[in-house]
Amino acid sequence: MKIVCVGAGGIMRNAHLPAYRMCGFEVAGITDTRFEAAELLGVEFGIPLVSPTVSELVGEVGSQEVVYDLATPASALVSILDELPDGAFVLMQKPMGETLEQAEEIVAICDRKGMRAAVNFQLRWAPYVLELKRLISEGKLGSITDVEFKVNVFTPWGLWDFLERAPRMEMVYHSIHYIDLVRDLLGEPEDIWARSIKHPDAPKLESSRSFVYCEYGELLRATISTFHAHPGETKHQESYLKVEGTEGVAKIQMGLNLNYPDGGDDYLEVWTKETGAWNMVPFEGSWFPHAYRGPMTAMMEWARGGVAPSTEIHQSLKTMRLVDTAYRRSDEFGRK
Ligand SMILES: NC(=O)c1ccc[n+]([C@@H]2O[C@H](COP(=O)([O-])OP(=O)(O)OC[C@H]3O[C@@H](n4cnc5c(N)ncnc54)[C@H](O)[C@@H]3O)[C@@H](O)[C@H]2O)c1
Repeated sequence: MKIVCVGAGGIMRNAHLPAYRMCGFEVAGITDTRFEAAELLGVEFGIPLVSPTVSELVGEVGSQEVVYDLATPASALVSILDELPDGAFVLMQKPMGETLEQAEEIVAICDRKGMRAAVNFQLRWAPYVLELKRLISEGKLGSITDVEFKVNVFTPWGLWDFLERAPRMEMVYHSIHYIDLVRDLLGEPEDIWARSIKHPDAPKLESSRSFVYCEYGELLRATISTFHAHPGETKHQESYLKVEGTEGVAKIQMGLNLNYPDGGDDYLEVWTKETGAWNMVPFEGSWFPHAYRGPMTAMMEWARGGVAPSTEIHQSLKTMRLVDTAYRRSDEFGRK
């Protein structure tokens, strides 16, 4: 299977294409409404076909077996999917639409056109997350009691001018990664509570910091706290995932958020009752670009007749529903 890309912006350049190069995947074509951006990436990554529009790209690709790889603002997904051929394999960037209504429309289009589609929730495949899942499945942490995401960083929102036009922002464009990973690690929460508000530095963004609580009853919870306007440089920035269990605890530093998009230091450290000490767990690679190998590899396996990725659109719709509920709770709490 070859890959055909729609969108030639920051994430395509910094993560998608470097990861595909690493995997030896062949990228056959690319398009972007900014043709010059597509041309630039065409040259940088040796992509033979650069088209000015999605429909011309589809026309040129013809009936070749390809995976369409979409990395545009979420608001463009509906119109792009409309132009892709029936039965296509599609991997689309998160979020799957900017609202639940758009997400449901996207799923309906894909179903109507017989597409096999998944969402690029690549944090599930980040090297440190894969190691964390191994520790959990080997029982090193015992029963999980608490999952905590804490992000207090400076995020350069100005990189994405489309965010100012998004009806919803922080939870649907950023914390969605953590909500999705909570589902991956713990299964479906019984409920979700949240409050997502603005920051004076970014008044045009609908929201730019959030607190989310995922309800799993009396013995387990997951919390997500994000703040993206930390002014004090790196000394007291935080970007971590901590998983507490009855037998141990694991802490991941997600360096990417500390210095976006170049990335800062990552680590995975684990303490268990068995060892009585903190130990570093080795892993290779980082969120960018290494995590991006996972979703595309899963698409390739699906296309070869294997099982659908865990982030197949009907599954990912559950993440979008949680995000939607989180916004409704936030509105009710804040009486918006
Ligand atoms: N970790 C992650 O998963 C992660 C990180 C960054 C961005 N993203 C997602 O990737 C998407 C793109 O982000 P980015 O950082 O590359 O943004 P960007 O603004 O740098 O690039 C987006 C590109 O899409 C192009 N585009 C817009 N509408 C189009 C259309 N209809 N057809 C073709 N091209 C179109 C734009 O011209 C632009 O070049 C967003 O949805 C964002 O949420 C995900």
